[in-house]
Amino acid sequence: MFRNARAVMDRRKFLAAAAPAVSAAALGPSALAALAKQLVAPAAAASVGDRTGVHRFPKDFFWGVSTSAYQVEGAWNEDGKGESVWDHFAHTPSMIKGGDTGDVACDVYHRYAAELQLMKQMNVRSYRFSVSWSRVRPTGRGAFNQKGLDYYSRLTDAILAQGIRPVCTLFHWDLPQALADPAWRSRETVKLFGEYAAKAGDVLGDRIKTWAILNEPAVFARGAYGLPLDSPEKTSFAAALKSQHGANLATGEAFRALKAAHGDASVGNALSMSPADPATASAEDHAAAERYHAWQNQWFLEPSLSGRYPEAFVGGQPLDEMGFELGDEERLKAPLDWIGINYYNREIVKARTVTAESRGEARLGLSVARGYQGSLTVKGWEVWPKGIYDIVVRISKDYGLPIEITENGCSYNDAVDEQGGVPDPQRIGFYRDHLNECARAIADGAKLRGFHAWSFMDNFEWMDGYSQRFGLVYVDRCTQRRIVKDSGHWYAKVIAENRA
Ligand code: GCO
Repeated sequence: MFRNARAVMDRRKFLAAAAPAVSAAALGPSALAALAKQLVAPAAAASVGDRTGVHRFPKDFFWGVSTSAYQVEGAWNEDGKGESVWDHFAHTPSMIKGGDTGDVACDVYHRYAAELQLMKQMNVRSYRFSVSWSRVRPTGRGAFNQKGLDYYSRLTDAILAQGIRPVCTLFHWDLPQALADPAWRSRETVKLFGEYAAKAGDVLGDRIKTWAILNEPAVFARGAYGLPLDSPEKTSFAAALKSQHGANLATGEAFRALKAAHGDASVGNALSMSPADPATASAEDHAAAERYHAWQNQWFLEPSLSGRYPEAFVGGQPLDEMGFELGDEERLKAPLDWIGINYYNREIVKARTVTAESRGEARLGLSVARGYQGSLTVKGWEVWPKGIYDIVVRISKDYGLPIEITENGCSYNDAVDEQGGVPDPQRIGFYRDHLNECARAIADGAKLRGFHAWSFMDNFEWMDGYSQRFGLVYVDRCTQRRIVKDSGHWYAKVIAENRA
């Protein structure tokens, strides 16, 4: 299992326990108004004397924040929502650290109006959120749930009312539980995903113009085969290959559906990408790094743009194992309008001999290791800002399409201080350094047009529950109180000055 996928598994392996979510009462308008006042930390703004940098960004750069449905919404079974694989998984004892679940999460289902007011106060220009498939179509097939559709319609109106651009991710891992087996290996799931995309396009496409189809298919269709994220994939590389092909077919279906609903839809994706640094200067390690680039960064991009898989395997593509059928080249094609990159880490890649006995990823003829020169976040991820430059410049040069960073962020052990603020200088340093590299990439010709911090708020970090804080806004797990961290105040300044 690749480091990156291992990192994915690490991201979800058990760490220290987190406080259990506390159910929050539904909020009325007056409570919302009171909450909005409460949201901005007292005095902390003054403490962010932290200078913004000298690196200017293009006019109209999309300064954004990201969240996802399961990680923030809560209301897991409210208003007709169906069970998702993550509801099911989180309700399975001992799967999630601390016994946490997304049942309530950040209660955004009820609190979104106040969150959006806070985003506005933070000068945010773009908000990437996701739609929960099982909220709008409870079993993934059959009748749609009007209350679920109405929620996303209200959310979209509220985002626009704040002058913020909505970026909608159609799928951020919360597959309807009723489709959990055989999940993405089945062409029925692909068809149903296309129907879901068509409905989302019909209902929301008059107001949402920017879509990201899948979030990190390398995680849910690959990392998953080591985890019950997508339950039946967990034991077989062949199943994972089929799942990945299904995800690519689903991208094609959803692309066509969204474009059919509204021709002016700007459709992209949100792919986890890691630049591959060869372990040595040897030709073998450089070739292995290229195969890793194909497997990690192009496997869910090339099929959309060309209908073909990149050369990642020593000894040819396993098309039969993937269940590649006649006509799939056309089915895969989705001439994306933009490319979303989720950047967290680089990988160090070393060549490895492939033999007749090589199985699974060993057939790629490489091994990966985490970078060792940067500092580590609380999750143990190397902080390597240069990696965002490397991957943005490479993808921009190779494809020439507009790029948006759909996720970049870090987790640290943030805490409220005596003044009621949340000092998080490490996160300010993290974002400053990564944004400087983004500015450098733009200066070197990359078509980078937006950056979405992961995440707007501390939220449910999959198998780590609430133990990992990625937010620009602190969420008190016991009271649901929001406090803008120093990094959130700094980010607001960066946006206002359009420089980092
Ligand atoms: C991912 C997901 C996010 C994570 C974030 C931190 O990239 O794994 O898109 O949902 O929460 O990346 O791990």
